[in-house]
Amino acid sequence: MTKAHMAMLAAESRKLEQAGLYRPETIHPAHIVDFTSQDYLGLTSDPRLSTAARAALETHGLGAGGSRAFTGTREVHRELEQAVARFLQVPDAIVLGSGYLANIGFYEALFDSRDCLFCDALVHPSTAEGIRLSSATAFPFHHGDVEDLEDKLQRSRSARFRAIATDGVFPFDGRVAELDGICGLAEKYDAMVVLDDSLGIGALGETGRGARELRGMIARVDVVTGTFGKALGAGGGFIAGRREVIEWLRQKATPYLFSIALAPPLAAAARAALDLLERGEAPLATLRGHIAAIKRELEARGFEVLGGEHPTLAVSVGGVVALQKMVNSLYERGIHVHGLCYPVVPEGQARIRLEITARHSAQDIGRAINAFELAGRALGVI
Ligand SMILES: Cc1ncc(COP(=O)(O)O)c(C=O)c1O
Repeated sequence: MTKAHMAMLAAESRKLEQAGLYRPETIHPAHIVDFTSQDYLGLTSDPRLSTAARAALETHGLGAGGSRAFTGTREVHRELEQAVARFLQVPDAIVLGSGYLANIGFYEALFDSRDCLFCDALVHPSTAEGIRLSSATAFPFHHGDVEDLEDKLQRSRSARFRAIATDGVFPFDGRVAELDGICGLAEKYDAMVVLDDSLGIGALGETGRGARELRGMIARVDVVTGTFGKALGAGGGFIAGRREVIEWLRQKATPYLFSIALAPPLAAAARAALDLLERGEAPLATLRGHIAAIKRELEARGFEVLGGEHPTLAVSVGGVVALQKMVNSLYERGIHVHGLCYPVVPEGQARIRLEITARHSAQDIGRAINAFELAGRALGVI
């Protein structure tokens, strides 16, 4: 590596710092209440998951020793795939090392330059990357705008195959995708619907089956991708859908063929999490109670709160200066939150993202509401 290359990297990193865009990795002290974790059901520390992981560790060892396609497949992987398919009510599923790899593997294996892929402008970077790798023609449509999507579908009639990609939930405001409109257009224009429900699984719908369950669309979405690393409290990713799709992915998805299989203890923990949801034992009611309480109490104090169906809530604060002050002031009062500003959200629409979990206590929730009220008044946000 040349000295010039190293100097350039160091200079660019300092520029990020000066622009306030540097991402420090911080371990927060115990007295700080964390409202940034996506461990929505509090399962990362659930003893039922650790017991399952420990048993798999004893039986299968820590690592898988190879990719799924070669030596890495264990009984726990197959059991997890069956559990995913059962839970999501689809014919089959394939498990990969992460949700990121699932999205990359899916598009690259199924599409090529003869195809057209339509994706919401705000999909997760892993979907955008998968689409890029596939070499299909990409048509990003304006966020949540089904009219723009239809306009683009009309202009792609010569494509071999078409697919519409959306996330189930958007992390900038906690809003749920317009699944009804998207599925209607997919049916009209003969396109596949691919839903990345990483944020929705375990958090949305009566029984935690995600955005499709919330919107009554279980049968209308062709493929669901996701992670076991958020509400399911473990790690790893999956693709679920029609048998022909899953069979093909086992032959052609590069992360399945050439990346280490999911560690067996994580696979067992993910399976245990799905079992809890399946049996109705996950703390969904507690989570919903917390979401409703925070939204109601913050609105009663004059805040504008976006979202409300999902544990991601976004509190509007206006400009970037107010945002930074508000985030700092909340931290000084023991509440850790993320601030979102331009270019992640439109200019002048800076907001604080709150991630609610079932692990928060009523006292944590009360503390957050109180801190928001004090900080908001002191800074003139309310
Ligand atoms: C919508 C979405 N898709 C995919 C991923 C990637 O999942 P994983 O962390 O398992 O790679 C995430 C996680 O950040 C996500 O939020």
